[in-house]
Amino acid sequence: MPFAQVTALLQSEIKTMNETIIRCLESQVEVINKISHYLIESGGKRVRPLVVLLSSRACQAPMENAISMAAIIEFIHTATLLHDDVVDDSKLRRGKLTANRVWDNPTAILVGDFLYSRAFQMMVAINSMDCMRILSDATNTIAEGEVLQLTHRFEPDVDEARYLKVIHFKTAKLFEAAGQLGPVLAKQPVATEQALADYGRHLGMAFQLVDDILDYKATNENWGKNIGADLNEGKATLPLIYALKHAAPHQAKIIREAILAGSLDNIDTIQEAIVSSGAIAYCMEMAKQEVDKAKQCLQVLTPSPYKEALNNLASFALQRGS
Ligand code: IPE
Ligand code: IPE
Ligand code: MG
Ligand code: MG
Repeated sequence: MPFAQVTALLQSEIKTMNETIIRCLESQVEVINKISHYLIESGGKRVRPLVVLLSSRACQAPMENAISMAAIIEFIHTATLLHDDVVDDSKLRRGKLTANRVWDNPTAILVGDFLYSRAFQMMVAINSMDCMRILSDATNTIAEGEVLQLTHRFEPDVDEARYLKVIHFKTAKLFEAAGQLGPVLAKQPVATEQALADYGRHLGMAFQLVDDILDYKATNENWGKNIGADLNEGKATLPLIYALKHAAPHQAKIIREAILAGSLDNIDTIQEAIVSSGAIAYCMEMAKQEVDKAKQCLQVLTPSPYKEALNNLASFALQRGS
């Protein structure tokens, strides 16, 4: 099942979700309308909403609420990106200049706040305390993950366990919430809720692992973000953590100095070291294991095209950028 077939399966739900997104962005303040439309309409992949819609369909949840939850999760995701691009001082997002570059940092932060709080207004309308709990916990954990990562900037000795905790918190937690929302809306047994939350978490881990590989391997054309941005921010992600441990001593020295300085001066040497040390293969293998675990979690579901699509979505996480 190609990716287009997954989205074709949800054609009408995605259409209604996109209409909901546009309707709910409405603000009396013109600059809020401008920025939120700029970002939301610039072609994000909508992976998290797809997980909400598929897990909802697979569990026979009421779709009106599921579609609202899908829009809500995209708002939360977009708010985190607005804030993240300020924190990371990023220039490119979804192939366009970031909001903090087109406007400025204070504006991007405040519009991020607008999107977060709008998401919670929309949640109140659904009137499910369980959904409120899941998404308030998730947004809180994302903030913790982002702060945790910030405290380890310019630190060459950050280890794999710390890295995994950061990506679980900042990325996988929202995917986990996305998976969980379907069975919760459908009032499924706790075991189903747990299995789909686990599916989301594993998918989210794989997604961020691949993202961190692409930060060294992608080209700007198909990536939509700046290459080498993680190192430039002094952020030691798994490819670098592994290469630092396994590269030749002269390469390790260059990597260490680059992390300390957040410098891209030796990016070619570092990219070479990442490949020759086996770091890419190591990270891909870890992503693959996460995808396998995600797929196993789907055993709880009865067969349906939606279950198959969830399975395929997990495979796509490994194919990004290839
Ligand atoms: C970007 O997420 C942030 C990460 C967790 C890597 P996506 O890659 O899903 O971003 P969009 O929404 O498609 O732009
Ligand atoms: C992604 O963080 C996670 C969040 C936005 C919370 P990153 O900083 O690693 O992602 P990109 O590379 O900016 O998309
Ligand atoms: Mg970033
Ligand atoms: Mg970041």
